Amino acid sequence: MEVSQIKRSALMSAFLRGHHAAHDHPAILRDEWARKLLSEEELAAFEATMEKALEAAMPDQAAAMPDRAAAVACMVRDYFPTSLFLSRAKYAEQMLEQAMSRGVKQYVILGAGMDTFLWRRKDLADRLDVFEVDHPATQAFKQERLAGLGWRIPQNARFVPVDLTRQRLDEALRAAGFDSGAPSFVSWLGVIHYLPQDDAFATLRMIAGICPEGSEIVFDYWDTEAFLPDRAAYRVNWMQEMLRYAGEPMLTGLDPAAIAGQLRESGLHLREQLSPEAIQERYFMNRSDGYYAYEHAYFVHAAVL
Ligand SMILES: C[S@@+](CC[C@H](N)C(=O)[O-])C[C@H]1O[C@@H](n2cnc3c(N)ncnc32)[C@H](O)[C@@H]1O
Repeated sequence: MEVSQIKRSALMSAFLRGHHAAHDHPAILRDEWARKLLSEEELAAFEATMEKALEAAMPDQAAAMPDRAAAVACMVRDYFPTSLFLSRAKYAEQMLEQAMSRGVKQYVILGAGMDTFLWRRKDLADRLDVFEVDHPATQAFKQERLAGLGWRIPQNARFVPVDLTRQRLDEALRAAGFDSGAPSFVSWLGVIHYLPQDDAFATLRMIAGICPEGSEIVFDYWDTEAFLPDRAAYRVNWMQEMLRYAGEPMLTGLDPAAIAGQLRESGLHLREQLSPEAIQERYFMNRSDGYYAYEHAYFVHAAVL
């Protein structure tokens, strides 16, 4: 992927989270910091792109919008996977908080992107050693952006560049000071679909290998139907097309019925799996602003055997 595309997709997720924090109440996850990662020019460019995307994909809906702000809100709430980004982060942080009450002291944010946990959740972050792991290109962009903004990197944070398709996560974490004897929590959000399936399970095995028994992981994945255009929901097909166009195609979907067995083979025990219906019930009930659980996306909470 080109640098400009890495920057664009990293900032897009910050834009979506920032838009939600500024406009939607009650918040699913309030990320006041995300918006600060974008300049005014970048913000305006994303809004113009959203308006154009609505015109291109849903011309009738676009024609009914009173102004750009309404068009942007419609895209953010109804089409982009904002509801997924917010609810999976909320789920991971809820599970992390519970794990901390059981003694977890290390937190690995795998594929962190522009996640703002270190600044947004100081209440949790200050009590943890945090390892932000990401593809070297994405992480280099984030570090450049943080330095440009003058955000202070907390002393308990380590940045670990790893391409999960080429490098060993366990070796990189150990080299960064990860303590294999300390109960740990790993979040792995929005990444599995970008990896070939073998790399995804190799990563899970490495997590199980480097973390002591009882350590926990939360990840999300797309089911295999999301990859069948005649079975997938409209907005999932639309998103797949956008990602292909952007040069970031989704590669891997998993079968919800097979997850428990695949985790066991990887050294993990399935504690909980949330289907889109369960996610809807947990995070989107009684909302009337257009947010609802993204179709075909599942959340998993597992523990190291
Ligand atoms: C959609 S973003 C998710 C960011 C964040 N976790 C979230 O939930 O918003 C996907 C992340 O996967 C990372 N990623 C994609 N391919 C990767 C690879 N081969 N190795 C490591 N990270 C990768 C990207 O760098 C990016 O940070």
